[in-house]
Formats: sequence, C-alpha cells, structure tokens
Amino acid sequence: MKIFINKLIPEDGMKILADSGIDLLMPENPEISYDEWIGYCQQCDAILNIGAYKIDKQFFDLCPSVKAVSLFSVGYDQVDLEEATRRGIPVSNTPDVLSKATSDIAFLLMLMVSRLASFHTNQVRLGVRFKYFNPIANLGQELYGKTLGIFGLGRIGLEMALKCKAAYQMNIIYHNRNQHPDLEKQVDAKYVSFEELLQQSDVLSIHANYAPEHHGKFDASVFQQMKPNAILVNTARGGFINEEDLYEALQSERIWGAGLDVSDPEPMLPDNPLLKLERVCVLPHIGSATVEARGGMARTAAENIVAFVDGKPMPTCLNP
Ligand code: DGY
Repeated sequence: MKIFINKLIPEDGMKILADSGIDLLMPENPEISYDEWIGYCQQCDAILNIGAYKIDKQFFDLCPSVKAVSLFSVGYDQVDLEEATRRGIPVSNTPDVLSKATSDIAFLLMLMVSRLASFHTNQVRLGVRFKYFNPIANLGQELYGKTLGIFGLGRIGLEMALKCKAAYQMNIIYHNRNQHPDLEKQVDAKYVSFEELLQQSDVLSIHANYAPEHHGKFDASVFQQMKPNAILVNTARGGFINEEDLYEALQSERIWGAGLDVSDPEPMLPDNPLLKLERVCVLPHIGSATVEARGGMARTAAENIVAFVDGKPMPTCLNP
C-alpha cells in the first residue's frame, strides 16, 4: 500500500507511520499546485491530508485508487463526506486532541478584545506618548458574571465554557441543532433558540462544524439582534461570518468587538478594513498550533492510516 502525505507532520506521527513499514510518498516542496497534488494522490491507496485542496466528487473521480482519507484536522468542511460514504471511502479526522488548545485561543481572543489589547499594543509600537492615563478613553469591559453564548456546543465549545465559568463565573447558554444534555450538565449550560443566543450573549463564541448552509450565517440581520456590548469570537471557520456586515456592525457600534482566528480567505488580506478597527483582534488560524495539539493530531492521523492499511476500521472515522 502506498500513502500520500503532503507535508511533514510532528515526529510522533511520522514514527507511527515509519514503524508500520508503510510506503510513503511525500513531495520535496510541500507547496504543491492542485494538479501536482492530484498527480501524487493518483499513485496512492490512501492519503494523509494536511490542508491542501477540496476532496469532493471531482477528486474521487480523478483519483480512483484512493480508498481512504485521513485528515490532519478536526474540521472536515473540505471533504464531501456524503460522496465519500456513497463510494465506501472512510474519512477520519483528529477530534479531542486540539480542543484545549483551540478553546485557549477563543479565550485569548475574548480577553484581548474585551481589554482592547491589539489597539494598546499598537499604541506602544507607534510610540504614542501620554503623560497621564486618560480616565475616560479606550476602556475595555470586564467579563465577570456575564453571559457566554456558545454556537455549537461540542468538545471545543465545552472547553471554552469550562474556562469562562472557572475564570469569570460566566452564565453559559448555547445553541446547537440538537440539545446536548450530557455536555450541558458539565457546565450548567442552558439550551436556547438561536434568537435568544443572539439577544442574551455578552460574548458569542462560534464552535460549530462548518457546512455550506452556514455560509455567511452571521450577517447584518444577526448583528442587528445582538447586544451593543457583545463580543463575537470565531475560532471555527471564516465562512460563518459575512465580514462586510461585521465591519458595518462594528463601525456603527451595533456590536462591541470581534476576535477572529479564522477568516475567508485565509490569511486575512492586509487591506481588510476589519484590521483597522480598535476592537478587533485577528490571528492567522492558530487554534491547534501547540506542540501538544499538533503532536496529538499527528498520532491520531497516523493511527487512522495504520488501521486502514491493517484492514481495520479507522479509530476516528467520520462516515455514518
Ligand atoms: C482543525 O483542525 O479543523 C483546525 O481548524 C485546523 O484546520
């Protein structure tokens, strides 16, 4: 069996692959074009995929030899899972191992925005001189006892809720397609409608799985229903937010601030007007960028490949 891996992954994962004696194909330069990527995949039985391109009907048509896909991510929005399932192709992801790291970034963004950290850092960088602090300007807001709204209470949302509860005794509300009584109990969270989530959240953090029907879900009509002091945090996928509408909502002080680890496109273009706003903090999709999380992702992704090669079910298979 030959496996295509488009980039080097942390040592733990490479070791699992090497120890199993799998025949690996890896490009010398990881920045490959779509056509080059297809060319490599066509030579293989399975792929361990880090980012790269869409794995859809066109991909499966072009690469009939590929019989399994191991993703190096928890998100699987780049895969047409229905199409894979229809063809009997297992697809796996890397859940759990990055929940703590990603929720840390959501928590960090919430704090950075609430205390205008990006703005203040810039002031220092620009050498802005002040003799006495201004008692009425550039004030942040505290989070104690406020309401955290989670859109998509799963593993990452739960970790975010646990941190907010422990640090600031925040009230937790959430909205999912379905209620999750088991997770709810762990953080004393209350299930609310989407409208109630918008109307009641002081901080609204997006943690749902992204699907095409979510595209631009957070738009002007949504911001219209949020509190003027609300902070929007997104560590999930950029596609959830209509960035033009978000800019308008922030500019007109319809909502208070936004912390974004994800954008559409990525990385955010340097001329995006959101970057000029004082109450916005943008990071370049670093939710899982820790030694621990990436190590865990590498192990999980490699174990999924080994299981496939051994003719066993992939441990974190996504197909229903
Ligand atoms: C994930 O694992 O889905 C992260 O967002 C990295 O892509």
